[in-house]
Amino acid sequence: MEKKIVLIPGDGIGPEIVREAKAVLAHVAEKFGHTFSFTEIDMGGCSIDRYGEPLTDENLQKAKESDAVLLGAVGGNAETSPWYKLAPSLRPEAGLLKIRKELGLFANLRPAFLYPELAAACPLKPEQLANGFDLVIVRELTGGLYFGERHTEKVNSVETAVDTLVYTEPEIRRIAIKAFEAATKRRKSLISVDKANVLDTSRLWRRVMEEVGKDYPDVKLSHMLVDNAAMQLVYNPGQFDVIVTENTFGDILSDEASMVTGSIGMLPSASLNETKLGLYEPSHGSAPDIAGQDKANPLATILSAAMLLRYSFDMETEARAVESAVAAVLRDGYRTPDIYTEGTKKVGTREMGALVRERI
Ligand code: NAI
Ligand code: MG
Repeated sequence: MEKKIVLIPGDGIGPEIVREAKAVLAHVAEKFGHTFSFTEIDMGGCSIDRYGEPLTDENLQKAKESDAVLLGAVGGNAETSPWYKLAPSLRPEAGLLKIRKELGLFANLRPAFLYPELAAACPLKPEQLANGFDLVIVRELTGGLYFGERHTEKVNSVETAVDTLVYTEPEIRRIAIKAFEAATKRRKSLISVDKANVLDTSRLWRRVMEEVGKDYPDVKLSHMLVDNAAMQLVYNPGQFDVIVTENTFGDILSDEASMVTGSIGMLPSASLNETKLGLYEPSHGSAPDIAGQDKANPLATILSAAMLLRYSFDMETEARAVESAVAAVLRDGYRTPDIYTEGTKKVGTREMGALVRERI
């Protein structure tokens, strides 16, 4: 059956990295006997230039009707680009917010892993990396503190600001299911991170995680308080497989985990809803400083395409083939300029993409 993939190259290095990831997907289709169709749509600055808005409803509709969306990055240089003279709702990032909201993407999956070949860039000590690390943070993306009611008022003439942290049982249940499913595809260990010693939302979170866990007897569920999790991520990241946590904690922990790898240019992400449709994108931005120079590292986008195969298409073998090819390219010593070290072989965006394809 044909799978419809919508590509959103976006701005800056976006078109270069998406071109390579698309070629990888086309190569996978050929090798494994699948039919993928590709439709490109504009989003971000390029869409502002063409249509006067960062994402048109017509293009959004194409994304909604697809089986998966692969995004490069959007945005330009905030100081020099005319896009940032527009009202916030018309700027490139508004396109991203619109597509995330309209697709109902409530689960954000951000892996963090260390390739042994890139360990020199990792800020942790070698003894902490004895077993390496390879983890995924599943962050709840549309509830909690960032979406609760807020206001500022004077209470007895004291200026007072209020933010509310709300989670409902169904919101927790659906993110729990995504996390258990992710753990099922991996090493079957799930650590739910909360602050159950203080917060009611965390106590409900813990209870629902336990309940959903009964449907996944192969997955080992445990709980960790968020302050401890923040320490453990830098002390012993190898202990984690899948972490699931609420919006605010996930925001902070996923940035912490990405820095621990030492190479954000390598990290993919997935945002999922209740259906199989997902949005896949590298964790980095549009890197306008190196756009159009064949210098961008396409691996984060190629690894996002592997996540697309895994989570939207249930093509685990194909996803692993792409991930193994990326590991093999690094083992063979090829590096784009951002991860180059002495004694390795420096290659551009195009060549890096071709080297990955050769190894699938
Ligand atoms: P950035 O991630 O684009 O760049 C930070 C630094 O990392 C730059 O020196 C860049 O050259 C380098 N870099 C990033 N990705 C790379 C890659 N694949 N290969 C080699 N080097 C890479 O972050 P920055 O500079 O803060 O933002 C630039 C633009 O990207 C802004 O307009 C920002 O709003 C946008 N942005 C978009 C995101 C998205 O579309 N999801 C996410 C983050 C930023
Ligand atoms: Mg953040």
